[in-house]
Amino acid sequence: MRTIQLQGVSFPVSAICLGTAYFGSRDSEALSREELNYYYDCGGRFLNTAHEYGYGASEQVIGRWLRDRGNRSEMVITTKGGEDDTKPSATAMRREELLEDADVSLGRLAIDCIDFFLLHIDDPDVPVAEILDTLRGLQKAGKIRHYGCSNWSVERMEEADAYADAHGIERFVMHEIEWNLSRRNTVNRGWFVKWLDEDYIAWHERTKMPVAAYSPMAMGVFSKYAAAGNFDTCSLYQRKFYESDFNRRMAEKLMVLARETGYSIVELQIGYLCSQPRGFADFPIVGSSKLAQLQESLRGTDCHFTQDMLDYLQEE
Ligand SMILES: NC(=O)c1ccc[n+]([C@@H]2O[C@H](COP(=O)([O-])OP(=O)(O)OC[C@H]3O[C@@H](n4cnc5c(N)ncnc54)[C@H](OP(=O)(O)O)[C@@H]3O)[C@@H](O)[C@H]2O)c1
Repeated sequence: MRTIQLQGVSFPVSAICLGTAYFGSRDSEALSREELNYYYDCGGRFLNTAHEYGYGASEQVIGRWLRDRGNRSEMVITTKGGEDDTKPSATAMRREELLEDADVSLGRLAIDCIDFFLLHIDDPDVPVAEILDTLRGLQKAGKIRHYGCSNWSVERMEEADAYADAHGIERFVMHEIEWNLSRRNTVNRGWFVKWLDEDYIAWHERTKMPVAAYSPMAMGVFSKYAAAGNFDTCSLYQRKFYESDFNRRMAEKLMVLARETGYSIVELQIGYLCSQPRGFADFPIVGSSKLAQLQESLRGTDCHFTQDMLDYLQEE
């Protein structure tokens, strides 16, 4: 698999990151290992998990897999903390809580150091000074290599960058946020900020901060639309957030492009994110509930978008 370079990071990362949110919970450990092995055999070396996924099950499955394969030194591991996993969507971003999350994640993953430790959400009531000093402390203690954020607003990232610069410490090295070809119906959905819209893109262009694109396939709604000709087979949750005229038109465009290019709808969605002509690096974090889905997603790295293809999908 191709690798890419992230600003401020000395080692390369795989162009596609493996999402593991359901490992050991919705998806059995056997299926999770099948996906980990397949991804690894394709050259993938970049995993994304979180302290709260499956109440720790995802990190534990990864930890056991790393131990059994003996390949920890080859893998780049991102985990996320700062969320209270006994109360999903509740923040836990005070110093003691972040320190505890990092220690618990290190224990579950059975590793000495986390490559990327991200703040899963934000709690604007906690000053960036406290958060960054805590992250810097973890870095100095050798428990994390780099840190970043997820679902943060531009304003808070700006505050964090200003604090980092004023104190000569590392800025966030990535921002993990939803990015795909859909447009969500609801902007304010609890602790999720929103998807990577034009305001975020402009900010990332300016700062060059890399983007980790989660839900790159909008949870599969375009595939479901293409198979059924409508959104009826999507879950109620997916319909609430994604059923709209804009997304219907996007699904139809993807179907046209798939017929014309021979790429599948999934390959096109991954190829779109891997071909962004932007001033910042980005990579998709792919999710799947079957091995065959992962196999198709990884083929997306071979889907190269021309400017015409980008224009076609982006025109209103
Ligand atoms: N930082 C955050 O707040 C945050 C939030 C969400 C996710 N994430 C990260 O991002 C990862 C991916 O998120 P996601 O699961 O929402 O992403 P996604 O890749 O957009 O959606 C995955 C879903 O798309 C469908 N799909 C995938 N491949 C397919 C194929 N070949 N054919 C048809 N359908 C296909 C499947 O739906 P079905 O199962 O219905 O078939 C699959 O479960 C997570 O594991 C996690 O690591 C982070």
